[in-house]
Amino acid sequence: MSFSISSISCQWALAACLSGLALTAAAAQPQDVGPGQRYYEKICSKCHETGIGPVLKGRALSPETVVAFARIGVNAMPAFRVTDIDDATLSDLGVYISKTQPPAAAKK
Ligand code: HEC
Repeated sequence: MSFSISSISCQWALAACLSGLALTAAAAQPQDVGPGQRYYEKICSKCHETGIGPVLKGRALSPETVVAFARIGVNAMPAFRVTDIDDATLSDLGVYISKTQPPAAAKK
């Protein structure tokens, strides 16, 4: 079947493709992805990188500001409780956001 032949010949291409993705991700982010960044990418980015909520990256928001908004919530944004995200992870998230660069698309 053509599928099995092409899947063999595509193994290297696939590997190259996947490693390309990994390199892209590594270039965009620091090597050490902390718990805060992971939480941001899993949860907060669903709104804050989709236009539902304002962009947070690259605005030099203070960690305290990010933590306060997340704990208290604002309008359409739900409050995040300690059972959603613990203090250590949230403060790590605040520090992460405070140091981020603006998203590439917004730079130009
Ligand atoms: C369900 C969508 C949603 C999720 C998930 C979400 N946010 Fe928001 N967030 C919003 C919206 C919408 C606003 C703007 C609210 C307003 O001002 O009316 C906002 C505002 C903010 C602000 C204030 C920014 C500003 O310019 O006023 C901060 C800081 C913030 N969010 C942090 C977070 C963090 C940290 C997380 C993850 C723990 C998170 N948000 C998850 C929707 C979301």
